[in-house]
Amino acid sequence: MKAITVEPKKPGSARFEDVPEPDARDGSVLVEAIAVGVCGTDVEIVEGKYGWAPPGKTRLVLGHESLGRVVDPGPSGALKTGDLVVGIVRRPDPVPCPNCAVGEWDMCRNAQYTERGIKEIHGFMSEHWRIEPEYAMKIDGSLGLVGVLLEPTTVVTKAWEQVIAVGQRAFWEPRTVLVTGAGPIGLLAALVGKQRGLEIHVLDRVDSGPKPELVRALGATYHTGTAADVGFEPDVIVECTGVGQVISDSIRTVGAGGVVCLTGVGSGGRTTGLPTADVAADVVLRNNVVVGSVNANRRHWYKAAEALARADRKWLSRLITRREKAENFKQALERRPDDIKVVIQFSET
Ligand code: BGC
Repeated sequence: MKAITVEPKKPGSARFEDVPEPDARDGSVLVEAIAVGVCGTDVEIVEGKYGWAPPGKTRLVLGHESLGRVVDPGPSGALKTGDLVVGIVRRPDPVPCPNCAVGEWDMCRNAQYTERGIKEIHGFMSEHWRIEPEYAMKIDGSLGLVGVLLEPTTVVTKAWEQVIAVGQRAFWEPRTVLVTGAGPIGLLAALVGKQRGLEIHVLDRVDSGPKPELVRALGATYHTGTAADVGFEPDVIVECTGVGQVISDSIRTVGAGGVVCLTGVGSGGRTTGLPTADVAADVVLRNNVVVGSVNANRRHWYKAAEALARADRKWLSRLITRREKAENFKQALERRPDDIKVVIQFSET
């Protein structure tokens, strides 16, 4: 079968090539790929900055935002041929650490977790893939292609859970939310915040293209400029850019007793020139919390599937701004100005 593979830590090594059919040891459920979303992590892996091949292998099948159709459900009985499924990304570490032991692999404490398409297990950018039944999330068949948005929705579902858990350390009635970055994570964070009944504001650099209208269609307010320019002190900021300046502006703009949740993974960039102790003093004197959030466990997958099922399908489908064939994966990995979510399509829904 064909797959998109990469030699991790070797820039420019990605290729569309023939690989063996998936090994039965990868799971008893056999799935035909429909589509795989592309995200910043995939770009980083292809640029040689991140990623690990399976033990004893040099190449990794890329892709962690899956959508597929069950071809052979295996003996488990939970799935049927034709079901639409999305694969959970992370697997618990083998030790296991206390969090992995209780199914919170997203909170893994010893970094020995594995992740499909990212860390030591093959991903989903192949014509067929196999999965263990307990890691295959069946989705509402009527979602069709937008089911490929489930994985990024799990990431924001976990982030929201962290925000609420942290906020509830004291009396707290959050009303206003600022989401920084109107990419797929930012827009899905805005969607989930809206579903929670909050007043949502989204900040991005661009003032044209599909983003402003998508934010308005949610019933949220779109802003450009800096976090300090939005004109109020949000109760919650969900930071989805990973850009240093936006992060420090967010920490300084959030209201007293507020929560800044960092979801973006950035690196480098200019230093903001703000002495750490001054930023810390702001956080201390206003009882603020800055919390990082990564990945998602089964509870978040379940809640994210509910969130997608409740959302407006037309709005969700507008997040998928480009579809590319697997052989054109290089174009899929390029960032174009009006891109929100680009998907690599392997077969029709
Ligand atoms: C994925 C997460 C993963 C993280 C770190 C993200 O792009 O969505 O599932 O935990 O990268 O590898």
